[in-house]
Amino acid sequence: MRLGVISRLVTLGWAAAVATTSTKGLQDLLERRLPNHCDDFVFTLVESPLTNASSHQNDDYAISNSNGSIGIQGNSVSALATGLRRYFTDVAHVDIYWFIGSRLDQAPSSLPRPNGTVAGSSIVPWRYFFNTVTFSYTTPFWSWSDWELELDWLALHGVNLPLAWVGFEKILLESFLDINLTTSEIIPFFSGPAFQSWNRFGNIQGSWGGELPLSWIDQQFELQKKILERMLELGMTPTLPAFTGFVPRALSERYPNASVVNGSRWEDFPPEYTNTTFLEPSDPLFAKLQESVIEKQIEYYGNITSFYTLDQYNENDPFSGDLDYLRNITHGTWQSLKDANPAAIWVMQGWLFYSNSDFWTNERIEAYLSGVENDSDMLILDLFSESQPQWQRTDSYYGKPWIWNELHDYGGNQGLYGQVDNVTINAIEALNNSSDLVGFGLTPEGQEGNEIVYTLLLDQAWSQTPIDTTQYFHNWVSTRYTGNNTIPSTLYTAWELLRTSAYNNTNLVSNAVPKAIYELAPNVTGLVNRTGHHPTSINYNPQSVVDAFNALLNASKEDDALWTNAAYQHDFVDITRQVISNTFLSSYTTLISTWNKTSSQPNTTLLAQQATTLTDLLNTLDDVLSTLPQFSLSTWINSARALAGNTTNSSAVADFYEYNARNQITLWGPEGEINDYASKSWGGLVGDYYLPRWQVFLNYIVVTPPENYDASVARAGVKAVEDGFQVPGSGLGMRRERVAKGLQGVVEEDVGPLLERIGVV
Ligand SMILES: *[C@@H]1O[C@H](CO)[C@@H](O)[C@H](O)[C@H]1NC(C)=O
Ligand SMILES: *[C@@H]1O[C@H](CO)[C@@H](O)[C@H](O)[C@H]1NC(C)=O
Ligand SMILES: *[C@@H]1O[C@H](CO)[C@@H](O)[C@H](O)[C@H]1NC(C)=O
Ligand SMILES: *[C@@H]1O[C@H](CO)[C@@H](O)[C@H](O)[C@H]1NC(C)=O
Ligand SMILES: *[C@@H]1O[C@H](CO)[C@@H](O)[C@H](O)[C@H]1NC(C)=O
Ligand SMILES: *[C@@H]1O[C@H](CO)[C@@H](O)[C@H](O)[C@H]1NC(C)=O
Ligand SMILES: *[C@@H]1O[C@H](CO)[C@@H](O)[C@H](O)[C@H]1NC(C)=O
Ligand SMILES: *[C@@H]1O[C@H](CO)[C@@H](O)[C@H](O)[C@H]1NC(C)=O
Ligand SMILES: *[C@@H]1O[C@H](CO)[C@@H](O)[C@H](O)[C@H]1NC(C)=O
Ligand SMILES: *[C@@H]1O[C@H](CO)[C@@H](O)[C@H](O)[C@H]1NC(C)=O
Ligand SMILES: *[C@@H]1O[C@H](CO)[C@@H](O)[C@H](O)[C@H]1NC(C)=O
Ligand SMILES: *[C@@H]1O[C@H](CO)[C@@H](O)[C@H](O)[C@H]1NC(C)=O
Repeated sequence: MRLGVISRLVTLGWAAAVATTSTKGLQDLLERRLPNHCDDFVFTLVESPLTNASSHQNDDYAISNSNGSIGIQGNSVSALATGLRRYFTDVAHVDIYWFIGSRLDQAPSSLPRPNGTVAGSSIVPWRYFFNTVTFSYTTPFWSWSDWELELDWLALHGVNLPLAWVGFEKILLESFLDINLTTSEIIPFFSGPAFQSWNRFGNIQGSWGGELPLSWIDQQFELQKKILERMLELGMTPTLPAFTGFVPRALSERYPNASVVNGSRWEDFPPEYTNTTFLEPSDPLFAKLQESVIEKQIEYYGNITSFYTLDQYNENDPFSGDLDYLRNITHGTWQSLKDANPAAIWVMQGWLFYSNSDFWTNERIEAYLSGVENDSDMLILDLFSESQPQWQRTDSYYGKPWIWNELHDYGGNQGLYGQVDNVTINAIEALNNSSDLVGFGLTPEGQEGNEIVYTLLLDQAWSQTPIDTTQYFHNWVSTRYTGNNTIPSTLYTAWELLRTSAYNNTNLVSNAVPKAIYELAPNVTGLVNRTGHHPTSINYNPQSVVDAFNALLNASKEDDALWTNAAYQHDFVDITRQVISNTFLSSYTTLISTWNKTSSQPNTTLLAQQATTLTDLLNTLDDVLSTLPQFSLSTWINSARALAGNTTNSSAVADFYEYNARNQITLWGPEGEINDYASKSWGGLVGDYYLPRWQVFLNYIVVTPPENYDASVARAGVKAVEDGFQVPGSGLGMRRERVAKGLQGVVEEDVGPLLERIGVV
């Protein structure tokens, strides 16, 4: 069954789409991450298969001791990069991580040589990475050095098909100028830096709180040139944007005969910011704009890819459900792409088929996909395969090649979470049951944490049988703490507890990273037991996470140096966050039940005590989080402000970026249209935003029995906090002085005593 797909890919030249045949990019990676050891490695690109595995058309590598050097052979640069990481993790026991960065320099000063040959073979030709919205939830304020870490991470994890949205507004601006719209007609169409993804999707248009500066457009374009060059050097084929059809309103004024329709209204945004104008592919201007967009990218970046991301109906229903209409839309769009670049392959996120499944009946999906006459000209991202796969109901997208993706996270929410069985067992099951499956990928809305369950799927792309997660977690622990197998055994205990609890969700009614209820607007009802993809239900025994916390703490009693180990610090904060989150949930439930039993004679003493428990938890959590930059609001805000640089007017621009940064993680929209969707457990946000929201609410509850409770009064107090926080500079730093004692101090003096007092530990 697999052979059918593979020979199809080869015939179509897909396998030849790999970007580079030079190993210089890998040498440069070593120079960046392990400068004293560049000469220890010898990379060799080979053409013939290295292993006996059946899928020779995919990527192969082999690591061996090559005349005293560490020899890495591979049939592509991506294969070599994967082999290099395999050396790092399995032989030298070091790795590269999100948040804590590269730990490759922790390898022994004399690098161990591999014993014998270690070989690997990918089971799918493509390893995909990014969701369109990751570019707003995670990367909008990234500097080049943030990108460098990310791209090294991607390469070493075998990713060879990343999405590359940065800087697109430059291309779009110039394309609209080419059809004689003016800059002042175009700029108001764009959204702010933290909201661009939804503008690119056509969900929203325009920007609240200020206009997107031209300096942003130019700066992001310069950044994109570096990103693409690096992607190519590291053996990745970028997926570039294309023209979707969404245009400034001014277009129909300038071209009154243009064939345009209104996109649908998104998430109750006021019409001013949504109902985006969609230029239909049947209009000659559509093809013209497509040609401009593709040509400009080829001119600026080179003819570097065949893959174009193009989503027209993401949470945005077509103007008509008529089958002929839908087929015409794709047919016209596809032709415009092929006219602009004969090699073009249309990459599409399949999210709509799940999110808007009322509209997207099977016959409409089939009609829409059938407009692309050659199946191989399209690539569908089955976006949420671990929980809501759509490939079965669409009979594998009616023949279009597709990729199995783990989505996992919404809005960059944090919470320990995984579906370790689904991303191993079910991914392999899909491969064995769909001859159109050509890749595995990661499509998180935000790159938040839980890194192990993301690497698990990327590593699964190199194993024909489901990965044994017991062994995988064990190896992860050894490597993560720069282990030589003599690290305290309770570190293994902690992760084994997590593997079988928080990381093994099988209750797919609540099916993604959970949200802490303290991140939600306080309420007497509706906060607990939420399901769906921002669940607040806890689907495991919370004691397991408490036990993991204790196991981690015991490890530091055995080895005090762990307190200075960046990986340990990160994980300790993360697990403490979860313990406090779960404790807050149960303490809140207790408080509400006390409050509800209270009739006209409230026991204000008891209620006040229980309210204090909630605020103590938030105060302490804020202290713990604030010990690390990756868990701090200031990191997000400072990176936003830093992008304003030293231009004229830079402090106004910095304020606009900061407003964007604050608004996205709180109100998400000018008036809280999707309030708290992208909430974060960050030091500074917990202390200066969630805590005041709860404080004002609790103050009211404690003195107000149920029969006198007025939701609008409670809401007004909370809303004042929400609105106040939007202002640049507000709140930040109020609690800064308390961080001085460091993680160990906070844990010993605050977290431990508090959890003991509440009876958690
Ligand atoms: C290689 O094998 C020897 C003997 O079995 C062992 O002592 C050594 O640790 C191994 N080295 C590596 C890097 O696996
Ligand atoms: C834009 O304006 C130029 C100069 O007036 C004209 O030649 C060109 O045809 C116009 N483009 C379109 C798409 O109308
Ligand atoms: C925006 O779209 C929504 C949904 O299609 C529709 O109800 C509304 O009337 C539209 N508003 C405007 C101003 O076009
Ligand atoms: C679809 O396109 C065909 C050919 O251009 C046209 O005849 C037909 O009217 C279109 N159908 C719809 C519903 O737009
Ligand atoms: C880009 O390169 C491909 C071959 O890799 C070729 O088929 C295609 O025509 C080129 N596109 C353009 C616009 O030159
Ligand atoms: C995920 O795993 C559970 C438990 O094994 C199984 O019931 C479910 O069908 C799987 N879901 C998907 C989407 O593969
Ligand atoms: C390996 O273990 C020993 C003994 O616990 C310890 O002294 C040493 O620092 C460890 N090495 C690394 C790289 O963690
Ligand atoms: C996950 O939970 C399911 C259902 O309880 C169980 O069958 C499976 O063995 C568990 N897997 C792990 C890794 O704990
Ligand atoms: C939440 O779910 C738990 C477990 O099913 C249940 O005991 C509890 O009553 C529920 N709480 C609310 C407020 O619905
Ligand atoms: C209070 O208790 C009543 C009766 O048990 C229940 O119906 C109501 O939902 C509770 N209200 C809250 C806010 O918990
Ligand atoms: C009110 O709560 C306090 C603290 O738990 C307790 O000591 C007191 O007995 C309660 N009062 C009444 C009237 O139940
Ligand atoms: C609590 O939630 C309900 C239902 O969504 C809502 O009507 C009410 O206004 C909320 N209360 C507060 C204080 O926000």
